Amino acid sequence: MNRTLSRILFLALAGAGLALASCQSAPIPEADPEAQIKGTMTVNTADKLKISDIMFGIFFEDINYAADGGIYAELVANRDFECTPADARGWGEKKFWVVEGEGMRFDIATENPIHANNPHYGVISVDNDGARLINEGFGGFRFEKGAKYDFSMFARRHGDKAVKIEVGLLSDTGAKLASKTLEVKSKDWKKLTLTLTASAGNSTEDACGRFYIKPVTRGAAADIDMVSLFPQDTFMGRKNGLRKDLAQALADMKPKFVRFPGGCVAHGNSWQDDCYYWKDSVGSLEERKPIKNRWGYHQTRGLGYFEYMQFCEDIGAYALPIITVGVDCQFAGGQKCVPLDQMDRIVQDAVDLVEFANGDTSTKWGAVRAKMGHPKPFGLKYIGLGNEEQITNDFEVRFKMVNDALKAKHPEIIVVGTVGPGASGRDYDEGWRFARQEELPIVDEHFYMDPNWFVDSAQHRYDNYDRKGPKVYAGEYAAHARGNPRPNTIETALDEAIFLTGVERNGDVVLMSSYAPLFGKHGNMQWTPNMIYFSNTKVDKTTTYEVQKLFGTNAGTNYLKNTLSFGSQLDERQTRRVAASAVQTADGDVVLKYVNTLPQAVSITVTVEGSKVPASAARTVLTGPTFTGKEYTITHNWINLGDGTFVVNLPAQSMTVIRY
Ligand code: AHR
Repeated sequence: MNRTLSRILFLALAGAGLALASCQSAPIPEADPEAQIKGTMTVNTADKLKISDIMFGIFFEDINYAADGGIYAELVANRDFECTPADARGWGEKKFWVVEGEGMRFDIATENPIHANNPHYGVISVDNDGARLINEGFGGFRFEKGAKYDFSMFARRHGDKAVKIEVGLLSDTGAKLASKTLEVKSKDWKKLTLTLTASAGNSTEDACGRFYIKPVTRGAAADIDMVSLFPQDTFMGRKNGLRKDLAQALADMKPKFVRFPGGCVAHGNSWQDDCYYWKDSVGSLEERKPIKNRWGYHQTRGLGYFEYMQFCEDIGAYALPIITVGVDCQFAGGQKCVPLDQMDRIVQDAVDLVEFANGDTSTKWGAVRAKMGHPKPFGLKYIGLGNEEQITNDFEVRFKMVNDALKAKHPEIIVVGTVGPGASGRDYDEGWRFARQEELPIVDEHFYMDPNWFVDSAQHRYDNYDRKGPKVYAGEYAAHARGNPRPNTIETALDEAIFLTGVERNGDVVLMSSYAPLFGKHGNMQWTPNMIYFSNTKVDKTTTYEVQKLFGTNAGTNYLKNTLSFGSQLDERQTRRVAASAVQTADGDVVLKYVNTLPQAVSITVTVEGSKVPASAARTVLTGPTFTGKEYTITHNWINLGDGTFVVNLPAQSMTVIRY
């Protein structure tokens, strides 16, 4: 990158960082005179190894309310009246809807629904003025002053008279922020729309409002369904789009791919029940099939395969859908499988997915995509088959059926296989054997492990992997500190960072990686730790997020040969606690990354060989309190590179990125 341009960009980034509570641009001393531990490093910019250019991606799963109530910007909960006791204990079709006041009818009916996939709807009427139907939202509604909200619903009247219905926004204190009236004139289902502008926001940043529907015409009933309220201000302004702050946090990481819809959500607990068949998640919203979420709540699938692929396109990432091969989650009472004589559907779904994503608009599924607003192909390149399956004969037979069909019909698609849920063990061994036998291009490894494992084992895990066999996708990993809930700390984040320096060094064999899970909604968690926590009004980025972002935004396409040495100052275990990597980016920048998990500062004398260095380089340092809470600091400044030999000071418990 041109130096002036890179300086301007860096300053802009540092400036943006200043806006964040966690960022500052205080000067960092060139070398810490207190640092007792001194190392040396040589980097040879002329000795390069080509590495993957899709190394850092994200894992999206609808767990912890990541989709409905999370990144999917719909504000109305149970808009489709399809919640059922099967979703969660005590739930039903009226979940999240409450009648306020006297004399209102609110029933659930199923006769003549809008669509067979959406069998339930609400029936409302009032006998007096006071009553209304309140939607509680996903823990309330976030309203902002002056923001516009698109309301829509399907409705039909019962009797001969049109039914007037008022809809409105309420603040957390019950104040009316907006209201409008519409008329249900038709006896057949019709979609009604209007826009509401909030006259004020909620009373405090944390507080959440509510939304109401109020029949005005006394004694006249109407059926209602797909009751929706969407902020207009979604990510990239997309209709049926994503919550802007959450989607932006992901875009800021510059992920090269997005895996979806899971995790275990991809195959569900049962192929007969909650398996995520992608065809049921596309088309108009009312024809999509809502299902029970494998993590114990309701999925509308308003965020479906089209929206996932559109988001990938919007942020310049490859889509990596993970689809079932007809095998249930092994952790849901043991592996159960689709009978072989019913596997046609599973195989056809895989083949048709490519047509949906890439097919011409004259094809059946290409036409569905076009009708949804994207006539151009999405350019799908990768498909994952199965998720951490138990590797049994039943699995192998079914995997082969799907994989062989894809190879025959779409040899251009790169298939990602699966090698079980752990870093080692039977499924791992058998998965690798099977992957080699089938000559799979890439396999998906998973490991949720103790933080020390990332330092002691994972950082060198791939150094001796076979370079001729299938490549690796480290598809789900996280350092799990002890605790309930398991905390994200500077320690866990830095241990993951140490692992990622090993991923970069082995970027010829580890093509892809993604931390998991991505999102956790405060108060709605089935799993910890997660990368980003959020509420309806806030986004809390963890140190893990910042580490992932530092790697994602400083990813290389070549690994530069380097050596890091501490002589006899550190013992073997301490040596493993300080790691470095050196890469060159696609546009020629040199990036040095350092991770110091020791409780002391370390200084390293670096010598760059093979090319000249500029006078200075941009430096970003992530530090945090030792082994404690969530607070961390990110500092941006410059480091002097001298004539190619310079000292880099690594604060205790820190990650440093130097880029020129
Ligand atoms: O990331 C959470 C879960 O962990 C995923 O759904 C599953 O694949 C893994 O066991």
